[in-house]
Amino acid sequence: VGSLLGLTPAMGWNSWNCWGLSVTTDKVKASAQALIDKGLIDHGWTYINIDDGWESAKRNDDGTIGTNEKFPDLKALGDWLHSHGLKFGIYSSPGDLTCGGYLGSYKHELQDAESYAKWGVDYLKHDWCSYSSVAGNDTSLETFVKPYRVMEQALRAQPRDIYYSLCQYGMKDVWKWGDKVDANSWRTTGDITDTWESLHDIGFSQYKIADYPKPGRWNDPDMLIVGKVGWSGSLRNTRLTPNEQYTHISLWSLQASPLLIGCDISQLDEFTLSLLTNDEVIAVNQDVLGKQAHRVLANDDFQVYVKELADGSKAIGVFNMKTTYTKASVKWSDIKLSLPKKVRDLWRQKDLTAVTSTFSNTLPPHGVVMVKVK
Ligand code: GLA
Repeated sequence: VGSLLGLTPAMGWNSWNCWGLSVTTDKVKASAQALIDKGLIDHGWTYINIDDGWESAKRNDDGTIGTNEKFPDLKALGDWLHSHGLKFGIYSSPGDLTCGGYLGSYKHELQDAESYAKWGVDYLKHDWCSYSSVAGNDTSLETFVKPYRVMEQALRAQPRDIYYSLCQYGMKDVWKWGDKVDANSWRTTGDITDTWESLHDIGFSQYKIADYPKPGRWNDPDMLIVGKVGWSGSLRNTRLTPNEQYTHISLWSLQASPLLIGCDISQLDEFTLSLLTNDEVIAVNQDVLGKQAHRVLANDDFQVYVKELADGSKAIGVFNMKTTYTKASVKWSDIKLSLPKKVRDLWRQKDLTAVTSTFSNTLPPHGVVMVKVK
């Protein structure tokens, strides 16, 4: 059952933010191979998820779904991923069509789940698109829950553990019912893009739903926008500044969000690699207590987030909301903590030497300091 899957947030790669609908088997394999060659696999990155764009134009005569010419053999791809120690994810929609206009699973859920199991799929992202035409004007909660329950039952009937990721943009407060359809995570907002505005609007609004996640049940504020992205055939470097990227990874780690790399890993630069391989930061995301950080202080200049960790310590992020250097001074007592014995800077992996009653930092534009305190 799903409650035993994804006990810590999923970590891996998804094809969408780089390749969009132009994804191919070779592109998936190139990112998977690079994930291994660059050592990301040793830091916990294991899911390789194909997003939209693999499906055949028409169903087979027996109603099963096929693949298009870009994915000649998904079973072989799944075997290849598994033989390399990776997990295999796929994408569908509860409607007739996916968001990209490919075939969805409507009325073929069981057959599709059987195909996924046959191919060795470990993760399904199930995207609302086009189910709106089935739902019509009916906006009752049950209408929104129903298609996800149908696929839940189809998945759970398979002799295989399949992580279940709902993609329906936070409609009907999915964080309140995602666990009822045995989902492991649920998208809480619309799609992210590689700008500060998007990162800000999505990332800094999740505190409102911080009480819902627990092991196996995660809020999903969408995939990572670091490295080379593009959503199409042509890629560009993320438009986030390096400091905004530290903020992105810090916030997603503090908020126990699934971490799905959205760039072409085969073109990963050293800076992005260092962002994604800091084990002390990743450990905050993967902490087994499974708590999402709470926002404990916010003003026009900076915000402070605190995440409880399993060993009794706390991870803290102080985020600069401004485009200029900002002095952020926080008394431990202001965030309901006593004077810590130890404060460790997680990005720099260094203990701070002088700990006083006020935690003061000069933060770079849109930057962050992330620490663990005992
Ligand atoms: C929606 C989702 C994206 C991606 C596309 C695929 O927009 O939110 O993450 O899966 O569909 O078409």
